[in-house]
Amino acid sequence: MYRKDETPVWMERTQSLLQALKKGIESSKIEEVRAVLRFHEHRYYIMSDPLVSDFEYDQLFKALEKIEKENPNLITPDSPTQRVAYELTKEFPTVQHLVPMLSLDNSYNAEDLLDFDRKVRELAGLAPISYCVEPKFDGGSISLIYENDKLVRAATRGDGVAGDEVTTNIRQIHSVPLSAPFSKFGIQQAEIRGEVLMNKENFSRYNQSLTAQGLAPLANPRNAATGTLRLKDPREVVKRNLEVFVYHLSYFSLQQEEQSPAAVQSHASTLELLWDLGFRSPAREKKVFNTIQEVIEYCSTFEVIRDTLPYEIDGMVIKVNEVALQDKLGMTSHHPRWAVAFKFKARQATTQLIGIEFQVGRTGAVTPVAKLEPVAVGGVMVSSISVHNQEYIAEKDLRIGDHVLIERAGDVIPQIVKSLTEVRTGQEKQIQFPMSCPVCASKLYKEEEEAVWRCINIECPAQVIERIIHFVSKDALDIRGFGEANVRKFVELGLLRDIPGIYTLDFTQLASLEGFGKKSIENLQQAIELSKNQPLHRLIYALGIRYVGETTARTLANAVNHLLDFQSYSEEQLQQLEDVGVKVAGSIYEFFKNADNISMLHDLEKLGLTLRNEKKDTPATGNLSGKTFLFTGTLSTLKRSEAEEMVRANGGQVVSGVSAKLNYLVAGEEAGSKLEKAKKIPSIHIINEQEFINLLGE
Ligand code: IVH
Repeated sequence: MYRKDETPVWMERTQSLLQALKKGIESSKIEEVRAVLRFHEHRYYIMSDPLVSDFEYDQLFKALEKIEKENPNLITPDSPTQRVAYELTKEFPTVQHLVPMLSLDNSYNAEDLLDFDRKVRELAGLAPISYCVEPKFDGGSISLIYENDKLVRAATRGDGVAGDEVTTNIRQIHSVPLSAPFSKFGIQQAEIRGEVLMNKENFSRYNQSLTAQGLAPLANPRNAATGTLRLKDPREVVKRNLEVFVYHLSYFSLQQEEQSPAAVQSHASTLELLWDLGFRSPAREKKVFNTIQEVIEYCSTFEVIRDTLPYEIDGMVIKVNEVALQDKLGMTSHHPRWAVAFKFKARQATTQLIGIEFQVGRTGAVTPVAKLEPVAVGGVMVSSISVHNQEYIAEKDLRIGDHVLIERAGDVIPQIVKSLTEVRTGQEKQIQFPMSCPVCASKLYKEEEEAVWRCINIECPAQVIERIIHFVSKDALDIRGFGEANVRKFVELGLLRDIPGIYTLDFTQLASLEGFGKKSIENLQQAIELSKNQPLHRLIYALGIRYVGETTARTLANAVNHLLDFQSYSEEQLQQLEDVGVKVAGSIYEFFKNADNISMLHDLEKLGLTLRNEKKDTPATGNLSGKTFLFTGTLSTLKRSEAEEMVRANGGQVVSGVSAKLNYLVAGEEAGSKLEKAKKIPSIHIINEQEFINLLGE
């Protein structure tokens, strides 16, 4: 759609609009603004190669909104502003697909593929055959209908004949063009099939936000994507950042009695055509082969790189490339005979739920953990899985003795997908949630709007241990050599009772313990000593105040000169701070109202910890000022946390994921998916550790 040699012209058009912004852009320029915005959306969402900053894009977008506000008659449904919908969806009406959405036949190994090839050749006769191979995206399938170049309808697969109309929600997805120049190819109406998915990074962020709210995370990105399509509020859909890949032109009609475009004669060139029309198709990932042997090899190569992709795939799809031959081969009622899915090794497995254990966390939350008959899933043995809370157990109808389907999606923590109720024997037992704490036996409480039961005895040994483990952990005070096992051991032996106790440990007593040599005691002593000078934000994070993560801890540290200043803060004052909402403010307020907490802070100060904010984060000074950094892989001379500190100390910012906003990716040994992703975004500078150090010195 956008030819490479035209890029300079697009940039000139962008510059002249940006310059016109000062005086205000005239309404006669409205189509020009839209065209330029569409060009940059394509660079960002389809090519992952933006050419303007988010700020510049936003300014042009706002200019368009202004013109449209002043001239409502000029609004068109495919204007970039029109993705945003303000009304709630009442229902998702059932609509018929133009062509039934068939499924695919599955294959699991080389033999199955040889079989497929044999059948195709039998039916094809003497016609030459090539195969187009592409990823099998693991999301939810959708169909998109374009008429006269405009997106007019989007629907889910449903039963294959009719699905749910989800046009408004699909319009929130930026990789779906609201208009595409089909008419250039003589096409009047087209039905396209594709897959809607949530990429791994957005999925793990989404799951983190669910767990932070005390909600159960989702088992896999597929459920996250399909669930999002069913949301009634389109504004929520925007926030979830879904993506769409399209892979099939299932139907088209021509404007006049013209010839079909040459591009649709093969599947590979159809994928190119869809790419040229502005869609995200697997045009770059696909490959065409003449022999099934080569197909088999390509499938196994992809299985190896599967985990480095930014999104989940569950296999490859092999399609006969010649469309005339596809027509000849036809289909069964279930699947086309010209295509087959090659499924990768399952990341799902079934096993038996043999018991439930209740664990008490740092905040007293009681989490049920399912004990399973050990089973391998995606190369990892799994023998226990968190089942989150009572509601979750009820929703999934889990019982002890049940056979359950479990899944480990990519690098995600395993989850139970469902219990296999069909194979119950009647001997399965209901899961009884305890009324009292399994560790200290005090009564459990549950707040009305929450799903979790809590032990509110802050002296509960389980909580004490978990709080100390958190306090010494890597992202908190980072006391090397302490670790979970030692915390448990010291508490059990009565050598450690609370957080201040870390700083009064009796090292001579430790020397009598098995496994504690002179050297390890010296190291531990030194690490404890060093932790006293950790910056205030780390201490705040280490305290484990509910809802206070690392980012909020930084905000809090920057707001005061001394940690105890928070004693005089009201909830309203706390809410003034960035990203501190009602719930977070309430929790911080309660923490500083609690006399035991205050006395612990006084003790820590007396023991030599820094409660004073000695160097407030002063952003935007230094030679990394305004630049964003991300570290991946293992660094050889610096610790990750040291390197990140250096970035901040020099005015830079450390970000959590690879996106067009990232300026530098510092890649160490064995860098994985982040590096692969960054390679696809040309604006990111990929540097090694030494180059990073050089940058600091410049
Ligand atoms: S082709 C007639 N290509 O896999 C065309 N399907 O298990 C049939 N899928 O329902 C579909 N990636 O939702 C095709 N590259 C791809 C695909 C793909 C994912 C999904 C699709 C289909 C399911 C079958």
